[in-house]
Amino acid sequence: MKGIILAGGTASRLFPVTISVSKQLLPVYDKPMIYYPLSILMLSKIREVLIITTPRDLSQFQCLLGDGSKLGMSISYKVQENPNGLAEAFILGEEFIGKDSCSLILGDNIFFGQNFSSILANALKIQTGALIFGYYVANPREYGVVEFDENNNVLSLEEKPEKPKSKYAIPGLYFYDNTVVDRVKQQKPSARGELEITDLNRSYLLDGSLKVETLGRGFAWLDTGSPDGLMEASEYVKTIQTRQNHYIACIEEIAAKNNWITKDELIAIGKSYKTKYGEYLISIVEEVF
Ligand code: G1P
Repeated sequence: MKGIILAGGTASRLFPVTISVSKQLLPVYDKPMIYYPLSILMLSKIREVLIITTPRDLSQFQCLLGDGSKLGMSISYKVQENPNGLAEAFILGEEFIGKDSCSLILGDNIFFGQNFSSILANALKIQTGALIFGYYVANPREYGVVEFDENNNVLSLEEKPEKPKSKYAIPGLYFYDNTVVDRVKQQKPSARGELEITDLNRSYLLDGSLKVETLGRGFAWLDTGSPDGLMEASEYVKTIQTRQNHYIACIEEIAAKNNWITKDELIAIGKSYKTKYGEYLISIVEEVF
């Protein structure tokens, strides 16, 4: 299974003016936003990741994450020249995906919850079809929406509907089999000129090969799309980390637990950060190894 992170968004919805900063590089509490989706792929044991971003932001992501070798991973990059839609990721990523299945995660989506690792382990077993998630929200109009019947069968999928048929939003984490590339190639752009992820998901639904798993009440899927949302996400991470002293989205910790880096490498990275984050890395060495 390969993994793609789509990190194309600007921070323009977060500030009163358009500034030249990638939203996914802004901090959520103590680490850049992109660490959160990256950590989800790592928890899924996905070791080869493609980051798709804008021509403007490419060098900043490369500077932050390099080729991934510091995490025992392989990270490569691709530029999306224009905002042609989320599903375009699979056309841009065709060569990277090769004959594999592929997961896509949006660079501004934050997930946290017990048992998520086992949900991800199941997702990874996908050989045919697609797996997406449903999450009950107050404001479904802002998202892709999935409608279920009383037996939890999926009835419909709609992108940002005026009148949502349910309160279940579709988070930005998707798992697809290898037919995904051909499916997107056959897709037509929507009225707003984009290759829509919801149209892609609908093609699996029409084949009867779409699985939708709901994430329950104890689970956090956080929004970073507004100043309030970003602040709340930071507060959430701070609260959990301070209470438990277990960091959320600590990519070096996950790399070490996956046995992708050695004890000495973890210590060296920890020492190189002159922050609490660095101290945390040193403090977990004995527990991890
Ligand atoms: C995108 C998708 C939408 C999904 C959402 C999750 O919307 O189009 O289906 O529910 O991500 O974050 P965007 O946030 O890009 O408007």
